[in-house]
Amino acid sequence: MQQGFKEIIIKDNFYQSSSYVPMPLCLIGTLNEDGTLTSFGSYSLVFPYYIAGKQYYAMILECRNTSNTAKGLLRHKKCTINFIPYSKKNFKQCVDNGFPGDTPEEKMKDFIMTPVDGASKAADPKGNYPKCLDEALQVFECTWMDELDGASNDKVQDEYDGPYHDFNGITSKYGAHFILRIDHILLKEKYYDALINGSTRANFCPLPTNWGYRDSKDFWCSPFQKPRAEGIPNRQIDLSSLRYAATRLNTDVQFTDDALKTIVKVPRPFLKLVLQGCVKWANENGVKVITEKEMKIISDKRAAEKKKKK
Ligand SMILES: Cc1cc2nc3c(=O)[nH]c(=O)nc-3n(C[C@H](O)[C@H](O)[C@H](O)COP(=O)(O)O)c2cc1C
Repeated sequence: MQQGFKEIIIKDNFYQSSSYVPMPLCLIGTLNEDGTLTSFGSYSLVFPYYIAGKQYYAMILECRNTSNTAKGLLRHKKCTINFIPYSKKNFKQCVDNGFPGDTPEEKMKDFIMTPVDGASKAADPKGNYPKCLDEALQVFECTWMDELDGASNDKVQDEYDGPYHDFNGITSKYGAHFILRIDHILLKEKYYDALINGSTRANFCPLPTNWGYRDSKDFWCSPFQKPRAEGIPNRQIDLSSLRYAATRLNTDVQFTDDALKTIVKVPRPFLKLVLQGCVKWANENGVKVITEKEMKIISDKRAAEKKKKK
């Protein structure tokens, strides 16, 4: 083995007991049993799961199956994932809400943050949805997809003796995984603007990614530090490879060299998709030869669609 590395034993909770996996600081809101209160539990094992190519976008949450959060999801299917900025008092609150065993009512008694309604409630004022936190910089409002992995019959129990699901619902004696469809993403205006109009060092969303329960003694978290930007590598595909890719498409639509020159920077794995998109547009518009002019029309149309989606 390369000198300088030391192999460590891989054990339960290896992401923090045997390594340093970067993680966010989140408070997840779920409804209590009778739906009268939103309870917030601390979580960091919550990551993007379906990011493209599916009917919906989803996160995955890994959590203790007897937690208030697991119970809330099993009963009411809804949650809010609140991404919290670092401050001493926010971190202390997250550590407090990470203490196992408190009921939602006990948890929320001295809670310092501000629960507010989100977009789900705005869209359906008569519905009952868990609240968001005003202190969060971004919030995902989600629905548990219990039909995946046949988990729709999973119920709240004191103990789970199996059989267990593979990846959704109750997945082990102590664990649960929840695949959470993202219904709404809410961003504070400054960070919304940064995504839509351009990021700078000053408007980059300052979320901590460096929290962890280390050495079985303390909770650790470091504040956000200003990031640095690194531009996209300026690599170009040569024209002859582009011509070759264009002739391999199953179509009588042709591309001029000027047209192909407009996509020299498209990375190779996406090239076929881009060319196919152009051919689709050409077929829909009765075009047989795509020149630089048509490429501009296609690219403007794409930009307009992207803007509409946002
Ligand atoms: C910052 C922080 C992050 C945590 N992340 C997780 C996690 O991702 N999954 C988990 O099962 N427990 C996690 N815990 C422990 C839970 O917060 C703990 O089980 C708590 O009782 C859950 O609250 P709840 O019962 O209200 O859902 C975390 C604790 C802290 C302090």
